Amino acid sequence: MDYSAKCESLIKLSANCAVLGFHQKRKLTAAGSGLDEHLGGLISRLLKRDDVEGKVGDVLLINHIPESDIERILLVGLGKKGELAPAAYRKVLAAAAKSLKDSGAKLAVSLLHEAEVEGYDLAWKIRQAVEVLEGNLYKFTRLKKEADDKPQRLSKLQFLLDSEDQSAEAKLGIKQGLAIANGMNIARDLANLPGNICTPTYLAEQAEQVGKSRKIKVRIFDESDLEALSMGAFLSVSKGSEQPARLIVMEYSGASSKAKPFVLIGKGLTFDAGGISLKPAANMDEMKYDMCGGASVIGALSAIAELELPLNVVGLIPASENLPDGKANKPGDIVTSMSGLTVEILNTDAEGRLLLCDALTYAKKYEPAAVIDVATLTGACIVALGRHPSGLMSNNEGLAQALTEAGEKAWDRVWRLPLWDEYQEQLKSKFADLANIGGPDGGTITAGCFLSRFAKDYPWAHVDIAGTAWRTGNEKGATGRPVPLLVQYLIDQAR
Ligand code: BES
Ligand code: MN
Ligand code: ZN
Repeated sequence: MDYSAKCESLIKLSANCAVLGFHQKRKLTAAGSGLDEHLGGLISRLLKRDDVEGKVGDVLLINHIPESDIERILLVGLGKKGELAPAAYRKVLAAAAKSLKDSGAKLAVSLLHEAEVEGYDLAWKIRQAVEVLEGNLYKFTRLKKEADDKPQRLSKLQFLLDSEDQSAEAKLGIKQGLAIANGMNIARDLANLPGNICTPTYLAEQAEQVGKSRKIKVRIFDESDLEALSMGAFLSVSKGSEQPARLIVMEYSGASSKAKPFVLIGKGLTFDAGGISLKPAANMDEMKYDMCGGASVIGALSAIAELELPLNVVGLIPASENLPDGKANKPGDIVTSMSGLTVEILNTDAEGRLLLCDALTYAKKYEPAAVIDVATLTGACIVALGRHPSGLMSNNEGLAQALTEAGEKAWDRVWRLPLWDEYQEQLKSKFADLANIGGPDGGTITAGCFLSRFAKDYPWAHVDIAGTAWRTGNEKGATGRPVPLLVQYLIDQAR
């Protein structure tokens, strides 16, 4: 899709579709009223028919406009004037995207950013428009011989501005929106691929491809490298699978080599069957999504390189499968992590933390400004928070605050959970330094506590994306989250 912003009068324009907002009840915005007048009151006459009143997400497509160079007008409800919240604005955009897609229009002009969203500026409104439209246009069809959808016709969207003064802000919105949407699409594509195609080796090759196209240095560590680093916890998981493990290291240098890097770590389980503590069969296919953390780190690195942020950023993605096998971890096994701490594996399905703990120890060598790990770590996170926010845990107030604010701004929200000492007690092991599970209570928090033991030397945050990385049910598919959160946090750090 091609996006642009320009200052021009709607009535002089030709387009396949003009997208306009209208408020409850049946009140046109400034641009809409202008066009209505120009068309001799056509729009207001049609609105009076009472089909829609302007509730958030209402749509009315007018597809016959006599004596105009605009072929169609798509009216989208904005709700009551002055009450449009960010979530509702995104609903408006999604409704517009869906109708635009179905309308068959190739070139559309949009004025939806005219609507006021309290506390959010024009750049934000345009950026969200790009992200929501790209999200709605996204399709994963590469593994189908027969297409079940008609091909996409929409190829160009223009944002119409009131004045030239708005141009720089609008362009920033488009630029950030496209970088984030491209990063999300990279994450979605990798995540939607099944486990038999997207193996650790494949994920590593794809990271190398992204690296090449975006000037990111990529190194791939194989199992002998991981052995040399004494990553005993990580390797204990991968030895139960035919597919060899990989540690993907991506380094983006946008600042002087003296600037401390931000390290992003993403869980890269290309399939998690649970190991010997085998998962139940129902919905097990969704465990191909257990690499969504890793995919989002690759997507975020791509976006920050596209934006050329003046920062140094490192991505670390430990990638493996977790399968039952003669060589797989058994409940009760004790392994030695890279940090030297020994871990008693009481449940082989709590494997993500075994990969992440060694990546967290490895991150120390960068003397990082901050480390953020993202992982589909616990089903308990979906029980605690549902599928709207990701779970946030941190050993640093400033970092937790910055991530919370970035999530609000990017509309990729997080909600913090505590890492109190009381919870650490649950990880006590009779035979090793710590156990890999903390019992049935507070499973998301005890997983966070486990990781915290390996993240003592730098500001660190853990984002549990079990509920947010993919949609289940009819709409099954990867969301591309938390790419917007990570990129917004880094944009904020670059200021
Ligand atoms: N990848 C899963 C977590 C998961 C499950 C995410 C379902 C999204 C949906 C993780 O490796 C796992 O299996 N965690 C266990 C931990 C338990 C054994 C302490 C879980 O959540 O059941
Ligand atoms: Mn598991
Ligand atoms: Zn897992």
